[in-house]
Amino acid sequence: MATDQYHEPPQELSEETRTLARMLASLIEEAEAINWYQQRISIERDSDARAIMRNAQNEEFKHFGMDLEFLLRRMPTWRAELKDILFTEGDIVERGEEAEEEAD
Ligand SMILES: [Fe+2]
Repeated sequence: MATDQYHEPPQELSEETRTLARMLASLIEEAEAINWYQQRISIERDSDARAIMRNAQNEEFKHFGMDLEFLLRRMPTWRAELKDILFTEGDIVERGEEAEEEAD
């Protein structure tokens, strides 16, 4: 159903919140597609089929990235939280703890 992404009555939500809900649903769907391709690739024995599925999975990485960037541009607090976690090196939990401390 088209309104499955809503947890609250859609008519009570702002246009902006409904757009964010649609993009969050898209982000989840792209992550699911990445997962499905990962599993299919891991068991496929035909190298040509694997190559096509890898190509398709790469498209899903891009879609996920575009959805995420859209959301982070519209939700600055989320962006600030992730700034110290994404594209860093070292201990991920430590980076997360530091990002949380900086946000507080
Ligand atoms: Fe996609």
